[in-house]
Amino acid sequence: MWCTSCLFQLVVVFLSATCCLAADPYVFFDWTVSYLTASPLGTRQQVIGINGLFPGPILNVTTNWNVVMNVKNDLDEPLLLTWNGIQHRKNSWQDGVLGTNCPIPSGWNWTYEFQVKDQIGSFFYFPSTNFQRAAGGYGGIIINNRDIIPLPFALPDGDVTLFISDWFTKSHKKLRKDVESKIDFGAPDGILINGFGPFPYSREVASNGIPYGTISVEPGRTYRFRVHNSGIATSLNFRIQNHNLLLVETEGSYTIQQNYTNMDIHVGQSFSFLVTMDQSGSNDYYIVASPRFANSSSSVKATGVAILHYSNSQGPASGPLPDPPVELDTYFSMNQARSIRLNLSAGAARPNPQGSFKYGQITVTDVYVIVNRSPELIDGRLRTTLNGISYLPPSTPLKLAQHYNISGVYKLDFPKRPMNRHPKVDTSVINGTFKGFMEIIFQNSDTTVKSYHLDGYAFFVVGMDVGLWTENSRSTYNKGDGVARSTTQVFPGAWTAILVYLDNAGMWNLRIDNLASWYLGQEAYLSVVNPDIDISENSIPENAIYCGRLSPLQKDQAQRVKFSSSPQSMIVTSRGILVALFAILVSSLAR
Ligand SMILES: *[C@@H]1O[C@H](CO)[C@@H](O)[C@H](O)[C@H]1NC(C)=O
Ligand SMILES: *[C@@H]1O[C@H](CO)[C@@H](O)[C@H](O)[C@H]1NC(C)=O
Ligand SMILES: *[C@@H]1O[C@H](CO)[C@@H](O)[C@H](O)[C@H]1NC(C)=O
Ligand SMILES: *[C@@H]1O[C@H](CO)[C@@H](O)[C@H](O)[C@H]1NC(C)=O
Ligand SMILES: *[C@@H]1O[C@H](CO)[C@@H](O)[C@H](O)[C@H]1NC(C)=O
Ligand SMILES: *[C@@H]1O[C@H](CO)[C@@H](O)[C@H](O)[C@H]1NC(C)=O
Ligand SMILES: *[C@@H]1O[C@H](CO)[C@@H](O)[C@H](O)[C@H]1NC(C)=O
Repeated sequence: MWCTSCLFQLVVVFLSATCCLAADPYVFFDWTVSYLTASPLGTRQQVIGINGLFPGPILNVTTNWNVVMNVKNDLDEPLLLTWNGIQHRKNSWQDGVLGTNCPIPSGWNWTYEFQVKDQIGSFFYFPSTNFQRAAGGYGGIIINNRDIIPLPFALPDGDVTLFISDWFTKSHKKLRKDVESKIDFGAPDGILINGFGPFPYSREVASNGIPYGTISVEPGRTYRFRVHNSGIATSLNFRIQNHNLLLVETEGSYTIQQNYTNMDIHVGQSFSFLVTMDQSGSNDYYIVASPRFANSSSSVKATGVAILHYSNSQGPASGPLPDPPVELDTYFSMNQARSIRLNLSAGAARPNPQGSFKYGQITVTDVYVIVNRSPELIDGRLRTTLNGISYLPPSTPLKLAQHYNISGVYKLDFPKRPMNRHPKVDTSVINGTFKGFMEIIFQNSDTTVKSYHLDGYAFFVVGMDVGLWTENSRSTYNKGDGVARSTTQVFPGAWTAILVYLDNAGMWNLRIDNLASWYLGQEAYLSVVNPDIDISENSIPENAIYCGRLSPLQKDQAQRVKFSSSPQSMIVTSRGILVALFAILVSSLAR
């Protein structure tokens, strides 16, 4: 059944009726993760690509399909890909984070196998360890509706995936050294859109002479733009000159459809907008991603600009860039976030409407108040903490330790409130109750916006406000149509509250997605175990890699992977990537 010659191809195999998952197709992929050379900001540097593409290929599947993904690690260091927002129901074995998987050693391959069960929407994958996301390695995930469940809008005329991200010309290895050794890594060198630097919208930028991205469209048509902030630190404001963004989806939930002229998209977040090409098209238009809550001087230096090109366009985009929101404080952004609500009547992955799970009527069983602080010295090293604990990844993944009953790897003692004691480095896990209903309040005591992400679940975002959360804050919660998603922002000096139904057994990563904060310890795991021995969880995969205290179980990979290396797959040209992947035309400045 294994397909070895299908690089870039996708094979759909309908299993015969003898198997349990008869109706759900299997799709097979072969991905090689390697370094490529690219110059997104005019400086040649090493980036991480997949099958020669940066950003990587789009994983385009449909609800309930089974994905078999053979990942070959052609980097010079261990690798894990994680599938941001994919819930891996009953199957945290496939989550691709250090608490669930041993990293894939350099030169090895490992085959992920997971079902995109009961999900729809826009997500992305990225490398989860070693600060590699700073060098790329990310790409889009699209989960289409099954035919039997209609979209809550007319089928768009086209589908465009956009990655907006802060970017540094330093390598990910240099950046992670900087982070460890306390050097503030400062403002980004630029903002990329799909791996490209900015269109020359001003004289300073023009001097760079670097390639930029162009999205080609037909007048009068409507396109679905899936926009992901795949950066490492910076909240970005996204907007398209003279065009409305009709918000329709956030990380797997259909929203109330509303027009926005711009949207704040925080690190790790994904949004879908419908954009109608309702302008005359007499010229091109700017697509802009600019830093939010950053110093103005650095944000001017670092604005991402791509081009929306109508087929009947007579000339280049012109005039000033469309304005960012005027307010520099967080109120505008917070109100915008509160305005994003769930469309209760829309069907999503299942035939029953999204609103049939009435989360506001369920009794909360556990409350956690989780406080993050700015980096501080613990035992002489710079660390970040959640509730005073800086997470230390053990050499044996938690999930494997749990399965093999190895004691002493972690403790189920993550505190429900910040403790009045010295911060420490530890491997402390949240003890979740299977089918419990958990309320988590994230209180941000740091000075920058943080994105919190929980693997394995979509949670309801029920409230956010400035100041300190108190019991009285609950009176402000949205108990009816809070949006369900997997990544939420928490503004500095403010709180965000979420509710989550713990029906997915497994060991799940809870983290701050801002990479330096995560790298220095701002993560924890949530253990959800069904006390009754039953089929709540898949068993350990046969191909599991063993490490740490379980290393003796690991057989050497009999044969090191032979990486297919077509010549152009190792050197990436900007032209190659987008034409292959996004059908976006690329213009260079050399005219
Ligand atoms: C995804 O695949 C479906 C077929 O399953 C196809 O109709 C659609 O155009 C593809 N979308 C993208 C963005 O490639
Ligand atoms: C590595 O890839 C080969 C095929 O190239 C496959 O047979 C094998 O199962 C893969 N190894 C793992 C651990 O997934
Ligand atoms: C959104 O804006 C477009 C114009 O760009 C308009 O045609 C449409 O009716 C608006 N939709 C809503 C829900 O406001
Ligand atoms: C803004 O600039 C000041 C001085 O250069 C610096 O201390 C501060 O960290 C910067 N703030 C941000 C959010 O980058
Ligand atoms: C909600 O979804 C329904 C489909 O069930 C759709 O017809 C309707 O337009 C959506 N409402 C809003 C306000 O987005
Ligand atoms: C771990 O312990 C449980 C009972 O505590 C037992 O059912 C299970 O088989 C053990 N697992 C392994 C891999 O030894
Ligand atoms: C974890 O929670 C379960 C209930 O969900 C409880 O039975 C168990 O004792 C707890 N474990 C620890 C170590 O607190």
